[in-house]
Amino acid sequence: MHEFVAPDREALDSITAWIVERLSHAPEVTPQGLAHGRDPLPALGPTGIGTEAAWVQLRDAVLPTSFPTDHPRYLAFVGGAPTPVAVMADAALSAASVYGGSELEAGAVVAAERAAIAWLSRVLGYPDEAHGAFVSGGSLANLSALVAARHGRRDPSGRPPSVIVAGASAHSSVWSAAAIMGCTVGVAGEADAALRADQLDRLLDTLDPADVVAVVASAGATNTGTVDALDEIASSCAERGLWLHVDAAYGGAAMLAPASRDVFAGIERADSITVDPHKWLFTPYDCAAVLYREPARARAAHRQEAHYLDVVNGEEADNPADYAVHLTRRARGLPLWASLLANGTDAYVDAVERCLTLAAYAAKQVEASPVLELAHDPQLSVVLFRRVGWEASDYARWSHHVRVSGLGLVTPTILAGETVLRFCFVNPRTTESDIEMLVETLKVDPP
Ligand SMILES: Cc1ncc(COP(=O)(O)O)c(C=O)c1O
Repeated sequence: MHEFVAPDREALDSITAWIVERLSHAPEVTPQGLAHGRDPLPALGPTGIGTEAAWVQLRDAVLPTSFPTDHPRYLAFVGGAPTPVAVMADAALSAASVYGGSELEAGAVVAAERAAIAWLSRVLGYPDEAHGAFVSGGSLANLSALVAARHGRRDPSGRPPSVIVAGASAHSSVWSAAAIMGCTVGVAGEADAALRADQLDRLLDTLDPADVVAVVASAGATNTGTVDALDEIASSCAERGLWLHVDAAYGGAAMLAPASRDVFAGIERADSITVDPHKWLFTPYDCAAVLYREPARARAAHRQEAHYLDVVNGEEADNPADYAVHLTRRARGLPLWASLLANGTDAYVDAVERCLTLAAYAAKQVEASPVLELAHDPQLSVVLFRRVGWEASDYARWSHHVRVSGLGLVTPTILAGETVLRFCFVNPRTTESDIEMLVETLKVDPP
């Protein structure tokens, strides 16, 4: 009989020490570390190499090849910078082997996740009855909301509605959800601009409301950070009896900043909202949330029935498994709850405000530079700008050079057909000098 290796105190101490060190200061990326990615990994064979040797591989050869999203100059895509407490809670959650699908097994873990969901709902302006669940990502949250929106709706011939209406800046996951659901996407408005109700109405006027699954608006489009005109869109949906889903996966966090709240007016009228703590709410991957203003419909759509589940599906049951496309699930909201408990919600407000301040600072740096120009007025923490005289290939070379030298991860995007650079600030540990350092490298052409 080949036994699994037993827990090893020494190896565990070394892992713990590494974790504490890793969380104590901003991570560093070195060209040597990144280069390990070209080394072959040790072969997996019938006989293992033991905990210590496996840990050494992980620590020295595998993990250093990643560009960590909490690096202060990781400004690509939408990064993520978890709090130390959230990371520690995440590790403990793994060790505790919690089945997070139902109260029967998970006990107070479900209550803790519920408290985190309630906090998110309050931040977004939802009523106390709102509820939802933590899922693996914004993509699954959007899919779950759209499935709930369609649930139980059929025309007289038995066909479910088949058109999802979305703003032109909606995230690609909406198209993915549509493909999974056998739907098409009707696109309203213009790319990279906030969707307005008159644009939405023009499209909706051509559609039978019975055939519309839902309208998806963005509260923080990924490419630009733009927030759609949510209040007027909500009125349009209400007049036509349509489900409004707001994708606030990235941008919803900005509602913590009092100065940013106005731009989200109307979000509280949405039937469902996606907001991702693993983006701008300092929670480790993977942790997104799907919230419903009236959760009963989502429960009807998502609760799975089977004889072996009768024991968890009683009349009064209210389980995290009931609100999304999942059954077995990690209690991934627990690290957020533990971190909120430890740090207090004010620390979250300050951290989000800090990111907004950094975006404003970056925009100023761009405006002050003779070789840079703002390409878009930043609304949240995304800053788009051009380097005068550069073409797409220059941006690609610069981005590659910055990454392989370990300086940072910044990637180009396209705005109205033009290649531009994009900074996205979600890490309060980024400093003004990090921004200056990157801006400095843009003065000269890339190697
Ligand atoms: C607005 C928006 N919605 C949805 C998603 C998808 O989220 P995930 O990558 O967590 O599936 C993203 C990802 O960046 C996003 O920015």
